[in-house]
Amino acid sequence: MSADGKISSIEHKQIRISGQEDLARVDALRSDSDAVMVGVGTVLADDPGLRVKSDMLQKLRLERGKTENPLRVVADSMARTPPNAKVLGPGCIIAVSQSAPSDRVMGLSSRCKLVRAGSSRVDLYNLMSILYEMGVRRLMVEGGAALNWSLIQSGLVDEIYVYIGGLIIGGAGSPTLVDGSGFIGDFPQLNLIAVKPLDDGVLLKWSVIH
Ligand SMILES: NC(=O)c1ccc[n+]([C@@H]2O[C@H](COP(=O)([O-])OP(=O)(O)OC[C@H]3O[C@@H](n4cnc5c(N)ncnc54)[C@H](OP(=O)(O)O)[C@@H]3O)[C@@H](O)[C@H]2O)c1
Repeated sequence: MSADGKISSIEHKQIRISGQEDLARVDALRSDSDAVMVGVGTVLADDPGLRVKSDMLQKLRLERGKTENPLRVVADSMARTPPNAKVLGPGCIIAVSQSAPSDRVMGLSSRCKLVRAGSSRVDLYNLMSILYEMGVRRLMVEGGAALNWSLIQSGLVDEIYVYIGGLIIGGAGSPTLVDGSGFIGDFPQLNLIAVKPLDDGVLLKWSVIH
C-alpha cells in the first residue's frame, strides 16, 4: 500500500507501489504457498496472472514434487471473471455461489475448475474447507480491499504482510488495505513480528491475535 494506506487509485487503476526487491519478495511468498487467491474485483481491475515469475523458483517447486505454480483461486460469486482473464488455465479455481448464472459458469468451465460455495455470495468458510480438501495448507491472499475485509472479519487470517511504499495516492474513495463496512468495536488486534526497510519503503509482518 501507499504511505497513506491506499492499494490503488481513485479510478481503481493498478499503481506501481513496490520496487524490484519487494516484487521478488512477493514472488517468493507466492512460490512458498499452496494457493494464491484474489477477489473478482482485482481480476476485473488488474487482470493478474498470479503465477510465479521467477524461473528458478518454478524449478525449485518442480524439484520438490509440486506443480510449477500454486493453485490460483478467484472468489467470484456471480462468475464475472472474463473468459480471457490471465488467471484462467490449468491450476485455476473459480469459486462461485449457487446464484451464479449457468451460462457464465459453462463459459468458464473449460478453462478452470469451478467450485460452488455459498448461496448468493461465496461463503469463505465453505471455500476454506474445499481448498483444505484439495491439499491447501498455506493460502496467500493478494487482495483486494473487499476480500481482505471479509477474510479478516471472518477471523480467517493468520498473518498479514504489508509493504508500505514511498508514495501518496490519496482519494477518499481509493481502495485501502481493508475496506468493507468497517469495525465499530472489537477491532482485530495484531502482533508485530518484523519490520524491514525494502526499496524506498518498509515491510511489516503482523500476526493476527485470535
Ligand atoms: N496494491 C495491491 O497490492 C493490490 C492488490 C490487489 C488489488 N488491488 C486493487 O484493489 C482493487 C480491487 O479491490 P476490490 O475491493 O474492488 O475487489 P476485490 O476484493 O478484489 O474483489 C471483491 C469482489 O470479490 C467478490 N467476492 C466473492 N465472495 C466474496 C466475499 N465473501 N467477500 C468479499 N468479496 C467477495 C465480490 O464480488 P461478487 O459479489 O461478484 O462475488 C466482491 O465485489 C483494484 O483497484 C486493485 O487494483 C491492489
